Amino acid sequence: MKKILVTGGLGYIGSHTVVELQEKGFSVVIIDDLSNADISVLDRIEKITGQKPAFHKIDLRDKNAVEVFFKENSVDGIIHFAASKAVGESVENPLLYYENNLHSLVYLLQQCQKHAISNFIFSSSCTVYGEPDSLPITEEAPVKKAVSPYGNSKQISEEIIQDTCNASNIQSISLRYFNPIGAHKSAEIGELPKGAPQNLVPFITQTAAGLRKELSVYGNDYPTPDGSCIRDYIHVVDLAKAHVVALQRLFEKRNSSNFEIFNLGTGRGSSVLEVIKAFEKVTGKKLPYKIVDRRPGDVIAVYADTTKANKELGWKTEKTMEEALASAWEWEKSVRGV
Ligand code: WQD
Repeated sequence: MKKILVTGGLGYIGSHTVVELQEKGFSVVIIDDLSNADISVLDRIEKITGQKPAFHKIDLRDKNAVEVFFKENSVDGIIHFAASKAVGESVENPLLYYENNLHSLVYLLQQCQKHAISNFIFSSSCTVYGEPDSLPITEEAPVKKAVSPYGNSKQISEEIIQDTCNASNIQSISLRYFNPIGAHKSAEIGELPKGAPQNLVPFITQTAAGLRKELSVYGNDYPTPDGSCIRDYIHVVDLAKAHVVALQRLFEKRNSSNFEIFNLGTGRGSSVLEVIKAFEKVTGKKLPYKIVDRRPGDVIAVYADTTKANKELGWKTEKTMEEALASAWEWEKSVRGV
């Protein structure tokens, strides 16, 4: 049984990926520093799959702790989620983002070289494309100067990985997520933002649950059909499944180069106002919202061209945005006990 290290494995996308890995027969060990995740997620994963992953509370900036972990644990592959990921926070505190996201990555890759771990999946983001010149976005679209240190840290990380793969036997796949939303059908795991949610869907579900007075829609004067921004909202379970497929591609050496990139989206764009309407339709809840000023740094429209992931990865999304919104609501209700 192959053993996979999942860093950030108690987080939102990480925990959903651990579930899919276990259900595909992989053994999983998690490293998480619990800075943006709760230890209770470990028991919740076990409740879903019947298997409790091994867990180590480690801050990946602690080079010595990382070295000790790899001395004591042998793994066949790594899926690296652990990173700081709030766009706004990264603008206020860039060095936190460069230290955490880049030092952690370098220490992990050094251990891959030292212990001949040759399979490395990286959690990246469509934010590396900035404001695209054309839509839908393919993997060949130019990577533009990121508007945030968070996005820049993802761009630099991909370059670090590519250079390392060229200088060693490591093969890697970088998965560029569009907008992950929703939760596992069990409502045992889901998105649990600390403090006021930055992202749209958790703010919607918290508003519907009565935790927030109303949703602020950041602008309806964009050059889009209804004036609000457009994004590609992908069900987190579809996203998690893509990580397992990507890992299997590396193990079976079906990759065409030592560093591949795939866009993970649905290929469809939805506006903020369309998401609100869809949420109201699937839940029957009227969502209070108001239109406010634009949020600095927002791009107008971004959604994926999924041809490469569909053809070469052999993966496509199976769930609709409506299913994702319904699952997000079920999760919110289970968290709030409503
Ligand atoms: C979506 C749309 C907002 C909140 C970011 C990162 C990306 C990834 C996902 C980490 C935008 C609007 C939002 C609200 C709103 N993060 N909105 N009111 O900004 O597309 O992507 O999060 O991996 O890398 O860039 O996602 O959910 O914040 O915003 O109107 O209260 O919803 O303006 O148009 P975003 P988001």
